[in-house]
Amino acid sequence: MEILVATNNKKKLREINDILAGLVPDLKLLCLSDIGFHDDIIEDADTFEGNALIKTNALSSYGYITIADDSGLSVDYLDGAPGVYSARYAGEPCDDGKNNEKLLYNLKGVPYEKRGGKFVSVIACRFPNGESFTVKGECPGVILESPRGDEGFGYDPLFYYEEYKKTFAELSKDEKNTVSHRRRALEAFLQVFSTKI
Ligand code: IMP
Repeated sequence: MEILVATNNKKKLREINDILAGLVPDLKLLCLSDIGFHDDIIEDADTFEGNALIKTNALSSYGYITIADDSGLSVDYLDGAPGVYSARYAGEPCDDGKNNEKLLYNLKGVPYEKRGGKFVSVIACRFPNGESFTVKGECPGVILESPRGDEGFGYDPLFYYEEYKKTFAELSKDEKNTVSHRRRALEAFLQVFSTKI
């Protein structure tokens, strides 16, 4: 079976690929360059669900089962920010380093016990007949005062996963893919998907 993944983020695509390959052996994922799609998709909804559906709907004319991940970091002390604005928290063009700096600035002086938050991933799935559904996965963590580790992307160097006593950027790819918000969302996706095919 072929599924189109609506993302230009290579690291995110790699994670989706690695997670799904381990769960569904006969699945082939196509990415946007495989279908010659190079346009920007404007994600202007104010929820993860809305943005994930914007991405799958933008590709409806290609006729594939299409999935999209819209994800981000939600920090309790910041009332859920950066949230749906995670990718462009420090403005455009998107820059992970600047986003992390802004996050640290906004949490300056905030003690460890108040630096909790979660990564959120919403997966939208759209079938060629227009039927769609969304599922969500979340992973709790704490925002450190300085970055640690070189793996992953985005806010991973600041996101401390207490159970493993490491940031997401200090985990191996396999470790992150076992516990991440994306893993949890993709498992939920497969549960619903299997009832619909
Ligand atoms: P999206 O591509 O519009 O869904 O934006 C997702 C943004 O959220 C990314 O640019 C990162 O800043 C952040 N993000 C989402 N998932 C992760 C993750 O697994 N690790 C680190 N940052 C993430």
